[in-house]
Amino acid sequence: MAIERFLTGITTSGTPHLGNYVGSIRPAVRASLSQQVQSFYFLADYHALIKVDEPARIQRSTLEIAASWLATGLDPERVVFYRQSDVPEIPELTWFLTCVLGKGVLNRAHAYKAAVDKNNAAGNDPDAEVSAGLFMYPVLMGADILMFNAHKVPVGRDQVQHIEMARDMANSFNYRYGEHFVAPDAVIEDNVATLPGLDGRKMSKSYDNTIPLFATREQLQKLIASIVTDSRAPGEPKEVEGSALFQIYQAFASADETQGLRLAYAAGIAWGEAKNVVFERIDQEIAPMRAAYQSLISNPAKIEAILLAGAAKARAIATPFMGQLRHAVGLRNLCSEDGSSVAKASKAAKPVFKQYREKDGQFYFKLLSADNRLLLQSKGFTTPREAGQLISLLNQTGATALASQSEQLQLSAGVSERDIGEALEQLTGQ
Ligand code: TRP
Repeated sequence: MAIERFLTGITTSGTPHLGNYVGSIRPAVRASLSQQVQSFYFLADYHALIKVDEPARIQRSTLEIAASWLATGLDPERVVFYRQSDVPEIPELTWFLTCVLGKGVLNRAHAYKAAVDKNNAAGNDPDAEVSAGLFMYPVLMGADILMFNAHKVPVGRDQVQHIEMARDMANSFNYRYGEHFVAPDAVIEDNVATLPGLDGRKMSKSYDNTIPLFATREQLQKLIASIVTDSRAPGEPKEVEGSALFQIYQAFASADETQGLRLAYAAGIAWGEAKNVVFERIDQEIAPMRAAYQSLISNPAKIEAILLAGAAKARAIATPFMGQLRHAVGLRNLCSEDGSSVAKASKAAKPVFKQYREKDGQFYFKLLSADNRLLLQSKGFTTPREAGQLISLLNQTGATALASQSEQLQLSAGVSERDIGEALEQLTGQ
């Protein structure tokens, strides 16, 4: 079965809370453990600029969200885990997509329309306080997804329209320039209920009703104690419907445990006692990850290194793909052949990097020419990431990387540095 690519991002605009954990982080980490999928997870920091103009908050949020993902079990070796702004191909692709998407599609985007409706109702200019960034946001999101040709994008219901727009962009581009993009599908996590917050409304930064994912045990206890309940006394039966406390419990407890609390509600458990049950159950899941989180947060250099390594993996895909797209639209080396003949031939006649694993357990790659001759052979690496990083370096700096990396690479007999340089240029479309 072909491997499917899953991709999802979290905007770095605040401190991750239990709602983010239940709705997005936990299912994403679980999905990444499957062998059948290749996962891309990223910190959407370009997106954060739309909502947040406090630089320190964006930096802090990026650190906290990255640490949360890692502390909850995301293995950066198994997935491509990166920060959006480390991949400059994404804003470049945003422009390409901007030029194939109808403006009217963006006019109809829910978030933009809601802002306009609010302005109209208040008698303001329809676009008052609406940045062009807010208007363009679905295109940036489309570029996030199409850059890696993701098949599946797990999102909440509120994001489905954006995935449809990404399909639209993929199809418009493919129609004009040939098949380059996969049209993505949204995967709606319906079984993952939106978690209520302290006041019973959806847990969200904008309502200021959140429980931080990595609150201390003491803070967690205090916050859970402050969840709204009704005024029924101990001994009076209580209802699970509409109980925020019950819903939060359900997101952590097994079916049996949930049934247990349901019965306790009916039997008139005191609110204080119910809150304690909920607190202990959540803490049981979070406590083991808290230490890992603290140690990560206090070591930003480690997270920075993990993100840069992830960006190298991402760019090993994005850089050559962007080269292909630049060529497709006509942003080309003036000496390259023009016209449809190139477009037709280009798919078949391109050099390629091939990555593989040998019996010795090490990871290798080789560069083959367009006519399938071996040009370059790497030595063995202990991880696929190291191999990917070197490929990415070659893609970015061309033959100049050969001299500094000569210990890792072997040119085939009769192949010169210049041949390699030309092959890399063809590959990246420079
Ligand atoms: N817009 C998403 C949100 O607010 C975050 C996001 C940005 C995203 N780019 C993405 C999600 C690409 C999935 C795919 O939740």
